[in-house]
Amino acid sequence: MSHTVLSSLAGAHLLSIEQLHPDTLQALLATADTMRPYALRQKRCTVLQGALLANLFFEPSTRTRVSFGAAFSLLGGQVLETTGMGSSALSKGESLKDMAQVMSGYVDAIAMRHPEDGSVAQFAQGSSVPVINGGDGSNEHPTQALLDLYTLHHELARVGKSLDKLHIGLMGDLKHGRTVHSLVRLLRHYPQVRFTFISPPELAIPHYLIELLNQSGHAYTIEQGLNTPLDVDVIYQTRVQEERFASIDEANHFRGALRLHQQSFFQYFDPTTVIMHPLPRDSRSDANELATDLDELSNLAIFRQAHNGVLMRMAIFAHVLGVADIATQHEAPVLWYSNKI
Ligand code: NCD
Repeated sequence: MSHTVLSSLAGAHLLSIEQLHPDTLQALLATADTMRPYALRQKRCTVLQGALLANLFFEPSTRTRVSFGAAFSLLGGQVLETTGMGSSALSKGESLKDMAQVMSGYVDAIAMRHPEDGSVAQFAQGSSVPVINGGDGSNEHPTQALLDLYTLHHELARVGKSLDKLHIGLMGDLKHGRTVHSLVRLLRHYPQVRFTFISPPELAIPHYLIELLNQSGHAYTIEQGLNTPLDVDVIYQTRVQEERFASIDEANHFRGALRLHQQSFFQYFDPTTVIMHPLPRDSRSDANELATDLDELSNLAIFRQAHNGVLMRMAIFAHVLGVADIATQHEAPVLWYSNKI
């Protein structure tokens, strides 16, 4: 599906990374920084007081759903939710477009996750209020890519680097991982970025993304496993997306194929390499793609990355609802004890 590049997100749907103009990207990153005092409960923001968000999640989610809800609430808005296909009228045969027409009469913004590729864009056609894609099948997960970009900026700065000349390794189920698909699209905005894709051939990065990199002139390497040391600045590990396989047996075949623990990390990567993962990490012993012995390393960024999700989603809501410039004029004190880090 082709998307129009937007110079402003005000009133728009956020369905794909392809919609983002470089200026919009910069604006989102800058706004996300201004949201930190609210996320840390140093002060409150009430700019969305009276606004309603519908959080429609038709596929499992914990952090994306809660962080969308937290982000909207931290701007002063209220959140209404529905989770799972079974509890929604989609199970009665309602079309996505009909549901969107109804929902957009109730609320001011909608965040949605759905198992089918293109479903959120289809839904958005029936919505008069902004729709944010919280993940559509194995297609895209634009808000995750944006929080990943924000995390890259901050984590690289910690080790004295920047996105210029970034070399990123993406490892795991690159075929089905929508976070990887959106992140690759997004990093095309940075001409010098180099990619190394590490996966079994059956889970390789889709050809259409390789084509996009060929068109934009980005350098990339493809590896079928961890065989030689890699000079990447960041390693972005992903989970085998078992829900996208034809059978669980097929998924089991790849489970645990690419693990990272302290020993393999130090064997194949420079000790300063930033470790990222969109989460959830599959910690079952047969998978264990990111072992807990890595938790001791300060360059394991996964929890900071997840916390950045609230900042970036606050920024996205502030922009699509047109309040990014006035948010700081609507502040209030925090009256309760809080211990955020
Ligand atoms: C990811 C997703 O849902 O695509 N999770 C998330 O939103 N952080 C990755 C995954 O489920 O493996």
